[in-house]
Amino acid sequence: MNKIKLAILFGGKSDEYSVSLHSAAAIINNVPEELYDVTLIGITADGKWLHYEGSTDKINDDTWHQDELSPVLLSMDFKGLIKLNEKDSTFEKIEIDCIFPVLHGRNGEDGTIQGMCQMSGIPFVGCDMTSSAVCMDKEYTHIICEMAGIKTAPFMSAVNSKTLNIKDLYEKAFEKLSLPMFIKPANNGSSLGISKVRNYDEFEKGIMEAFEYDKKIVIESMIEGFEIGCAVVGNEELLIGEVDEIDTKNDFFDYVEKYSQHNSKIYCPARISDDLKAQAKEIAANTYKALGCSGLARVDMFVTPENKIYLNEINTIPGLTDLSRYPSMLKKIGIEYKDLIVKLVELAIE
Ligand SMILES: Nc1ncnc2c1ncn2[C@@H]1O[C@H](COP(=O)(O)OP(=O)(O)O)[C@@H](O)[C@H]1O
Ligand SMILES: [Mg+2]
Repeated sequence: MNKIKLAILFGGKSDEYSVSLHSAAAIINNVPEELYDVTLIGITADGKWLHYEGSTDKINDDTWHQDELSPVLLSMDFKGLIKLNEKDSTFEKIEIDCIFPVLHGRNGEDGTIQGMCQMSGIPFVGCDMTSSAVCMDKEYTHIICEMAGIKTAPFMSAVNSKTLNIKDLYEKAFEKLSLPMFIKPANNGSSLGISKVRNYDEFEKGIMEAFEYDKKIVIESMIEGFEIGCAVVGNEELLIGEVDEIDTKNDFFDYVEKYSQHNSKIYCPARISDDLKAQAKEIAANTYKALGCSGLARVDMFVTPENKIYLNEINTIPGLTDLSRYPSMLKKIGIEYKDLIVKLVELAIE
């Protein structure tokens, strides 16, 4: 059997560049060599695509780009990559059967790379362009879920402009959402630019902070309770992973907590009743379908003290190290990390 020529993309022009390095290094270390010929493409934080042939240690410690590396382009001519040899002005063709974008956040998880892959005609792991874009944009996620009858927090959005009056916005938000509220950049991840606000001063500060990450922001009512997540894999037929639970002593699951977990603990399975777990899995599957997902996604929800479930968000390329939440939820239903990688590539080629 011919090996599948798999291109793994890592890094990316994104605030979550370093998160991607760890996800990608774990995937590269676990790709079954007997099945795949792997080509590694590192994308620098300023967006350059480079052909990398070194170790995963240098990916993990972010020194990979210090090697002398050749630029690569995604071909729109044949199915593959074009490697530019700058020294002698020649180029090399690298044929590719499947692309695995192990990228998080903007320019990785938001439909941009997915659109390029679709144009190239090369199958790729994960959701298509449209689905990636709507899952990344927290306002569009709310709107589509509302239409599909999936409960989310009451919300509103605002766009940065010279005429935006923060006092007026606060009054409208207070009336519709009451305090406390969460303010978020519409497009980002890893809790970057997110604040929980309890009064006008915090609101003003939160708005300014969120606008540092995006020109559009989403403001939500705080949902009391705790957050759970559920892994989904598949195209038409879906496999639903175990439900996990975030127990945090912090105000919310912020960037530092997500990657240090000093004051937080993840329970997998979640400490909720079987009935609630079944409801969460059903909401995860319905959300996945409503948003047009394929391949994989992690669906995050809140459970209130009254045992009501609200959708929080859907991550189309969730953290993918072997210890991350998404692979852990699937391990609990018998899908090992290595098998998950194979399954995701199969789903892409399907
Ligand atoms: N409406 C909300 N009510 C309560 N907590 C929230 C709300 N929105 C966000 N949070 C908290 O903030 C964290 C990050 O928000 P989230 O929307 O998941 O953004 P990100 O895409 O950055 O993960 C969540 O994990 C949760 O702890
Ligand atoms: Mg989240």
